[in-house]
Amino acid sequence: MDNMEKNILDKARQYEKNDLNRINSSKSSFHVTAPVGWLNDPNGFSLFQDRYHLFFQYYPYDTNWGPMHWGHCTTEDFVKWEYLPAALAPDKNYDKNGCFSGSAIETEEGHVLVYTGVTVDEDTREVRQMQCISSGDGLDYKKWDCNPVISPQLITEPVSQADFRDPKIWKYDKTYYMVVGSCDEKKLGRIPLFSSEDLKNWNYEGMLARNDGSYGRMWECPDFFEVDGTSVLITSPQDMRKKEFEFHNGNGTIYFAGDFDYQTCEFHHGEARAIDYGLDFYAPQTTMAKDGRRIMIAWMQSWDNKLIPEEYSWNGMMTLPRELHIKDGRLIQTPVRELEKYYVDKVEYEGIELSGITELKGIFGRRLNLEMTVTDGEYDTFEIQFAKNQDYMTTCRYEAETGIFTFDRSNSNIRRDVVGKRSIQVKSPGKRVKIQMILDQHSAEIFINDGEMAMTSVFITPMEAEDITFLVNGSLTADIIKNEICICD
Ligand code: FRU
Repeated sequence: MDNMEKNILDKARQYEKNDLNRINSSKSSFHVTAPVGWLNDPNGFSLFQDRYHLFFQYYPYDTNWGPMHWGHCTTEDFVKWEYLPAALAPDKNYDKNGCFSGSAIETEEGHVLVYTGVTVDEDTREVRQMQCISSGDGLDYKKWDCNPVISPQLITEPVSQADFRDPKIWKYDKTYYMVVGSCDEKKLGRIPLFSSEDLKNWNYEGMLARNDGSYGRMWECPDFFEVDGTSVLITSPQDMRKKEFEFHNGNGTIYFAGDFDYQTCEFHHGEARAIDYGLDFYAPQTTMAKDGRRIMIAWMQSWDNKLIPEEYSWNGMMTLPRELHIKDGRLIQTPVRELEKYYVDKVEYEGIELSGITELKGIFGRRLNLEMTVTDGEYDTFEIQFAKNQDYMTTCRYEAETGIFTFDRSNSNIRRDVVGKRSIQVKSPGKRVKIQMILDQHSAEIFINDGEMAMTSVFITPMEAEDITFLVNGSLTADIIKNEICICD
């Protein structure tokens, strides 16, 4: 380790250590949260020596984005996390302006991290992004001398030199593969595919997917994996334009389902769909669990909405990890089943009739799993009003005839002109619908009809706002279950 490297990483490790000793009651209890300062994308989500590791884009010194480090945490069950010292700092000539997003894999050489080294020329302001490697023992990592290992020059068609980032690595047979987020000279997203036998020398295999202009501009943070026999490419496009209920303006997340052939390296896929329809979900990344489940986690924030108050010492959370499946060519997402181990104080109402406004005994709180299955009824709309007191209320509202489902945080203490509301169209409208909602202080992750659609959003209201009420226009019959979620030691 040269001195520059040691100093910058040590400084970050010392800084976060001091802060970790501070009790910070505003933090979520089972969502990964910035230890201190700023957090964005999940990085290096992987299994190494029997534990799951998650790294993240991290700037410990400020609650705004800054020169990127990699923060680090680990878990056995995707719910209870232990924070480790920062793993990477921008301390080499080839990454001096940031260690941007990337991924990780367990190899014979240890835990290998693949990330984007960013440099900005001081005179010309020209940005260069290249893929780099670091490996370690699950705690300390060393950047390889051969860095950077992939530059955009490897690609045999014109691509941007400045937007070439977020490598996702995997192994198939004896070969390593990597997809990278990039774009052409017109800023239209491109996902180049590379392969290597030794992690040091990489070949360009072709363009896995191209943006024809339908899905935003630059494509960030790609991931490519197989689930239930289908190949899935996920990516996070910048500058999306709204399309009916499917896509919203700004940064979005999309997936393509299709078939991939390792012989030709061609990916045949259909139309893109949104991954999550909420207000705060970006840059998802997946890993494979020990038992073969495909697990996805994402940054629970959007670049355009900053809601965390200035007085907090941290800014940024991850979603709860989710299990992925494919059904009829569509992605199905459900919260990791391990969460159920932490359910306490179950309250259950079976076949309860609701009309007008109702409060149910035992149903309240801000750290819980709430499931409402509407089985029958004569109603036009119903609402679940939560995180509520006389001053605040967050809601979701379902309209039976059209299947329009709306999340609304505009009465949730928002002091800026950020997006407060979003509507989606449930796949099969009608009176019967199932809503699962996971609250963890500042966030609501909503899964509709057993994970057919997911909607993730952040809202910041005082913890005392913890009432839950049901408002039905008409009457309905439902089964309602609530479990508190307790991450006790
Ligand atoms: C996505 C992203 C990545 C980049 C990182 C920088 O949110 O813009 O493309 O690597 O954030 O922090």
